Amino acid sequence: MKKNTLSVNVYEVDKIEELTAEEQELVEVSRKMTRKAYAPYSEFYVGAAILLENGKIIKGNNQENGAYPSGLCAERVAAFAASAMYPGVEMKTIAVSAHSTRVEMEEPVSPCGACRQVLLEYEILQQKPIKMLLSKEEGKILVIEKVNDLLPLSFSGGGLKKSGAS
Ligand code: THU
Repeated sequence: MKKNTLSVNVYEVDKIEELTAEEQELVEVSRKMTRKAYAPYSEFYVGAAILLENGKIIKGNNQENGAYPSGLCAERVAAFAASAMYPGVEMKTIAVSAHSTRVEMEEPVSPCGACRQVLLEYEILQQKPIKMLLSKEEGKILVIEKVNDLLPLSFSGGGLKKSGAS
């Protein structure tokens, strides 16, 4: 049996000032969006902000529901809104942040598997990386160069498309 090792680069900045001005703003927007989340059940408030190639920032946050599985994560709220309003416009960077009134967050928030899958499909579609800035209310920020880094050996829905479909 042959062993294949996959490696991922995860960059870390201790101070937001180490990011570009554009990225700092995106992180701040994602942090502000946590305040508008509808998360009465988990009390885990997540905000997301996606910078599009056209300069627009599309915002989202988690939306929960009493019928628990019906809610949606912040990342997908933002990504689906971006694709709905600006189909085909490149997503350059997504910032995600979170805070909780129930638990002490020690590490920056990291997207769930379903959100990684959804973001990856947009990344593959646009053939350009979507950079990720993962944070919490304050403190260190993780920088991931592309969604694919967070979902190696991913399932590709591409095989499900009829040949010739884009
Ligand atoms: N959640 C997000 O919005 N994004 C993540 O990356 C992780 C989890 C939401 C889903 C649910 O509303 C709450 O956080 C607790 O899981």
